[in-house]
Amino acid sequence: MTRETNPPHSSVTPIRIFDTTLRDGEQSPGATLNLQEKIEIARSLEAMGVDIIEAGFPITSQGDFDSVRAISQELQTATICGLSRCVPRDIDRAGEALQGGANTRIHIFCATSKIHREHKLKKAVDEIIRISVESVKQARQYTDDVEFSPEDGSRTELDVLVQITQAVVEAGATTVNIPDTVGYAVPEEYGHIFAHVREQLPMLDEKGIYLSSHCHNDLGLAVANSLAAVQNGCRQIECTINGIGERAGNASLEEVIMAMRTRKDYYSQYQTGIKPVKLFPLSRMVSKFTGLNVQRNKAIVGENAFAHEAGIHQDGMLKERSTYEIMDPTEVGIPKSKLVLGKHSGRHAFRERLADLGYHPENKILQQAFEAFKTLADKKKEVYDEDLEAILDEQLGQTRKLWELERFQITSGSGVIAMATVVLRDSAGVQQMEAATGDGPIDAIYSAIQKATGVSVTLEDYQTRGITKGKDAQGEVCVQVRHNDRIVRGRGLSTDVIEAGAKAYLAAINRIKAVNGD
Ligand code: KIV
Ligand code: ZN
Repeated sequence: MTRETNPPHSSVTPIRIFDTTLRDGEQSPGATLNLQEKIEIARSLEAMGVDIIEAGFPITSQGDFDSVRAISQELQTATICGLSRCVPRDIDRAGEALQGGANTRIHIFCATSKIHREHKLKKAVDEIIRISVESVKQARQYTDDVEFSPEDGSRTELDVLVQITQAVVEAGATTVNIPDTVGYAVPEEYGHIFAHVREQLPMLDEKGIYLSSHCHNDLGLAVANSLAAVQNGCRQIECTINGIGERAGNASLEEVIMAMRTRKDYYSQYQTGIKPVKLFPLSRMVSKFTGLNVQRNKAIVGENAFAHEAGIHQDGMLKERSTYEIMDPTEVGIPKSKLVLGKHSGRHAFRERLADLGYHPENKILQQAFEAFKTLADKKKEVYDEDLEAILDEQLGQTRKLWELERFQITSGSGVIAMATVVLRDSAGVQQMEAATGDGPIDAIYSAIQKATGVSVTLEDYQTRGITKGKDAQGEVCVQVRHNDRIVRGRGLSTDVIEAGAKAYLAAINRIKAVNGD
């Protein structure tokens, strides 16, 4: 407890958490997730207590369609949502993807602000309202749960916002989300929008319609704006793990949740179903799968969020933790001890530990991961959480291995042209051997892999880091390669950094081939 202020309210207002981490546009270029990764994240979001998961934008690609379909078929508790423009074929595609799902929602959006009406849509307010109403009615043919978003809502004239909200609710929308699409709003203003719409439309409360916030972080105000909305009648918060998203990102789920928990004196009235202990593992998983590293000093889940370096702070902490710490790191799932398993650990312990880390892989992937763990445990005395995450990341990221690295040999040294020989094995078990020279061992091995696979790519980014400490530490290499104007990423892991680099490059090439449908 840090400060005694407003006494907690007695009544409880449930707040729904709507997660858009899986929306493709919410990730950076090259961070596109594959189906297995999306399913794994969705399972963890559900296990954490997220109410609604937006699993994709079905009209945009077969991959998005498939992920909405697979996730809506599998998950039984969370509501699975498909995104759609106010375009009849978009809505049909979203409806088709969600068919047979246990709890489904279609989320449709249409821009409403003057800037968007005049420059983007070139349509008048009446026309926009007409299209939106028709779209809501069409979506209602697929599901009773329809969300409508007036895009750029925070910059839309208040009277237009009220008009369109009334029209879409009368047409059957059950949630109206008012997005701060460009991250321009400030908390007082954003909160006022919700208060105004509710005041003008008593029918919202009468009909049990949810108002929702969706805030972008261009001014660093996404979380503050979301909380201001809640205090003014918003009952659903849209957010993402690690705050990933378009441009500067969206409101960070973990920050919203921990702000409400930590400042109960302001927010005790509001309750979500989120289990905070799952926040850190999920943050790690999303960061691994997307390749988007979490900033070290990011609130709640950054590496430094609970580190105390200054002497005065350390002294204070030793005397009394609350002098400098407002949350307990174990509350958000940051483990006290990182050492987990060793060579003699069995399958059961392995699976339990994975579950603690937020992974619930299906049997086949679990078995492959267990074998990879045993191989690693033979090489390394101690296997850490980070090692397990990396193994899972590798298994889930490469479920369709078109080529595997069988073996390689490098000749290099000062004054010697580096030369690499690689032996790859394709999915039919056929081996392919190639050799190439290069400006160093990595350049040489990458040229040899290009020759062996016949796939030509340009290396755009290469990053390496130690996953664990010590002389037998595992190293991770993350690469981004360009292929036909598309950026694709790959990760590789090994106790040998050149092998990790080769695996990362091959993972990216496998991804390209998988997306091309080869
Ligand atoms: O930011 C935005 O306006 C959106 C809509 C699709 C809701 O993401
Ligand atoms: Zn958005």
